[in-house]
Amino acid sequence: MAIEWSGLSPGLLVRLDRSGSQPLRAQLEVSLREAIRDGRLRGGERLPSSRELARELGVSRGMVQECYGQLLAEGYLTSRTGSATRVADIKKRPAAGPPVTPLPARRPPDRALIADFQVGVPDLSSFPRADWAWAVRQACGEIASADLGYGDPRGSAVLREVLAGYLRRVRAADAGPGQMIISTGFAQGVNLVLRALSRERGVSCVAFEDPGYGSAQSDETVRAAVTMGLRAAYVPVDEEGVVVSALAASGAQAVVVTPAHQSPTGVVLSAARRHALVEWARREDGYVIEDDYDSEFRYDKEPVGALQGLAPDQVFLVGTASKALAPAVRLGWVLAPSPLAGTVAGEKEMSDRGSCTLDQLALATLLTSGRYDRHLRRMRAVYAGRRAALVDAFARHSPSVRLTGLAAGFQAVAPLPASADEAAVIAAARERRVGLYGISAYRGVPDVAASPALVIGFGNVGERAIDPAIAAIADLLS
Ligand SMILES: Cc1ncc(COP(=O)(O)O)c(C=O)c1O
Repeated sequence: MAIEWSGLSPGLLVRLDRSGSQPLRAQLEVSLREAIRDGRLRGGERLPSSRELARELGVSRGMVQECYGQLLAEGYLTSRTGSATRVADIKKRPAAGPPVTPLPARRPPDRALIADFQVGVPDLSSFPRADWAWAVRQACGEIASADLGYGDPRGSAVLREVLAGYLRRVRAADAGPGQMIISTGFAQGVNLVLRALSRERGVSCVAFEDPGYGSAQSDETVRAAVTMGLRAAYVPVDEEGVVVSALAASGAQAVVVTPAHQSPTGVVLSAARRHALVEWARREDGYVIEDDYDSEFRYDKEPVGALQGLAPDQVFLVGTASKALAPAVRLGWVLAPSPLAGTVAGEKEMSDRGSCTLDQLALATLLTSGRYDRHLRRMRAVYAGRRAALVDAFARHSPSVRLTGLAAGFQAVAPLPASADEAAVIAAARERRVGLYGISAYRGVPDVAASPALVIGFGNVGERAIDPAIAAIADLLS
């Protein structure tokens, strides 16, 4: 049964003070959020259409739509194609945050499938177990007793020195050990940076690429930002990468981007956009948080250098060992603008007093011994083989589909016909024992007009499984 707009009239639920200093849009957003939080608007209740509410309140429809979009992104509202916007059931949520719906990529691979094209998962069976075990043994044998205490919250001086050299060499980064903070993967790195920016620079709105991480409902990075009180803005991505003019119009003071290989579209940020982004940051005194998650794997050309090298005072480079080694390693790094490195280190100290020193020394040992580079060379060949198998399989079984985003990493985008129902294709493929994932999970703001597409992760799919899997679903794709 459809629950209509609550018995209270919008006038009682939403108070707009036209003489106040706060913009009307912010007032509307805050009033609705508070009404949902304190239970005046209950889970499942249907909100009036943007047109009706705009008329009732005497504001523009666009303003109401923007406001609904933001609350959808934060998880306070839900909306399905063709049906009304409703209040989300926030009572079932843990603490005060939006509901936790992990991205499909976080599920363990489904072994009953011919192939599970999970996104963002490297080849877990290729983890260099022997090298890691050797490096941990070395680290354990060599570490001085004094270094087994609480150390520098920024991390082991040895690893920071080695990593800084590595990033200068392979990413053309402007890196020194003093600006580096070792984190628990990208996940913690971005959290530390956002906290530091909010505390030290008063940043209150952070932009995300769209498609990108997704909404606060589906992604922990956006959820973390919203939970720490930041407003999330979404900026579109086109064939050159993030649209910098839209970023400038968003009001955000910081932006999280994936310039080397946009996640999930695979677009490499064009040279013109790289410059525009840096210019935006300099002009607005804004900050760019560069998620450098899979830059190690570039096939056709040399990897483009890190954006951080262009503007080390405005860009935080956040890296991770999750793709090069495995997510289970949980090691990452933040290269911060020098004046903010201390604040990020302070956040790290408050968070966990520092990452495991033995693991850090093991990673430093892998890097200095050349075993890390050797592993990367081997994996580049493995992923290049899977990438070629995917391209061949599509050419053979589904030639009308033009795969994009293949310049780097281990994922590709397969556009579906405009009339296709992404969710139905995914469900039908699962019936045929093929795990597929849709691009809509990566959208910050649901967009019914956006073209349906699949994001096909091939990092953790054996080369021989690719052809039979694509053959099994080919007719669903065209
Ligand atoms: C876009 C993107 N950035 C970064 C990461 C890595 O996160 P972490 O280092 O926390 O494992 C992932 C993992 O899937 C990702 O998809």
